[in-house]
Amino acid sequence: MTGYKTGFRDLTEEVRDRPLDVEGSLPTWLEGSLLRNGPARWTVETPKNGGDSAEADHWFDGLAHLTRFAVMDGELRYTNHFPRTEAYHNAVDEGSFAGQFSSSGGYLAKLKAMLTGEATDNANVHVARIGDGLVALTETPNWIRLDPETLTHRGSLSYDDDLTAHHVTAHLRQDPATGAHWGYFTRFGRTNKYVLFRIPEGTTRREPVTSITVDRPACMHSFALTPGHAVLVEPPLVTHPSKFLLPGRGGFINNYDWKPERGTRFHIIRRDTGERVRELTVPPFFTFHTANAFAVDADGAPVGQNSVDAAAALVVDLVAYEDASAVTDLSMDALRGGGAGFPSGELRRYRLPLSGETPAHETLTTAVEMPRFSPAVHTQPYEHVFAQSTEMDGGNALVRVDVETGATQRWAEPEVFSGEPIFVPRPDGDAEADGVVLSLCLDAAEERSVLLVLDGDLTELARAPLPHTVPFGFHGEFFPTWE
Ligand SMILES: [Fe+2]
Repeated sequence: MTGYKTGFRDLTEEVRDRPLDVEGSLPTWLEGSLLRNGPARWTVETPKNGGDSAEADHWFDGLAHLTRFAVMDGELRYTNHFPRTEAYHNAVDEGSFAGQFSSSGGYLAKLKAMLTGEATDNANVHVARIGDGLVALTETPNWIRLDPETLTHRGSLSYDDDLTAHHVTAHLRQDPATGAHWGYFTRFGRTNKYVLFRIPEGTTRREPVTSITVDRPACMHSFALTPGHAVLVEPPLVTHPSKFLLPGRGGFINNYDWKPERGTRFHIIRRDTGERVRELTVPPFFTFHTANAFAVDADGAPVGQNSVDAAAALVVDLVAYEDASAVTDLSMDALRGGGAGFPSGELRRYRLPLSGETPAHETLTTAVEMPRFSPAVHTQPYEHVFAQSTEMDGGNALVRVDVETGATQRWAEPEVFSGEPIFVPRPDGDAEADGVVLSLCLDAAEERSVLLVLDGDLTELARAPLPHTVPFGFHGEFFPTWE
């Protein structure tokens, strides 16, 4: 596991628009920028604290770090940058993570700050194009705007609305029909609510679609969209907001309790009316990430945006865990010490009838995370999920899962630890898998990261070594243009 630990070392070096040597060749049709986000620095040493180091001790609390891989005419240029947010200045200039984080349970401090409206601007989870600008997202509403070329900080995103949000999904879903970004947040208060919202394309306005009152809000990370519905997946890992304000509750997860007797609940909401058309409870599981979802009619045929009333069932694919142990130990001490591994979930397909029958699921494959799919098939029946294998054995594979049969294909190399696989379809391609998979991987043997480019069958086309090691990050997107 020595190699794996390399992925949790602090990074400090920044480079701008550096050409990378490409081994192999990039498809000539591939043009645009892969932008990725993730924590990359947990330790600071400054004269102000006497040379002592200050540390963020939870993986999620590392300073936001963006990477950009710009592809044009078969050439690749690399930029990486830590946005100079308030959180960055507090840590690097003041030598302290205090104010953003605490020495124990940093994520707890972050949630406390959410409740008092002083949410950290350390947006280190995902990226999206909102209001025609690049935005870095996190689970507080304090999202930040970035220059898409240099990745430099342009200030916090100001919303063109007056909604109060506390715990927000960083996994927005873009509606292929309208371009609107859909999401949800939890608002804590005398009554706690999940609020489903949409951000119309070209705006920064969160328009509430509906809200659901909830007694004990759950720890939810992502959701699913079909042409006519949104599906919130609510695992029984729940809290009460007063818990965040009590002292001595330890880390983030200590404020959530696993209540398996509640089961996991699917809240199915009609997107046009906001009506919750069904709430379905299934045996308990925990999940971070949904994959794709779609609707079918009574005969199993796909249902599109214009025939929502014909939908008889929704199909939702997601990565499920037996319980909440998936989130219980992601402290830096544990990760750097090799005492914790990534949890191992299974890719499941849930069939959620909109009336009558009970829901059912099948397991498609095991030991995967970071599920992605072609953006060309979002909300439609589809063929493939691309994911990281969570089986670590001197490296871990990238996999392609056939979501009808569960059959998997793999790409693996000794001592290479893969990152989230992002699929870019070839314009005018015939088949769903006609495109490339981009994954920022750690080559532990060489102690550096590499951008790996595979075709849709997971055959390597090219790789480009970076000048340094980028710690394991979270999520990214490929943007063909910024126009
Ligand atoms: Fe995520």
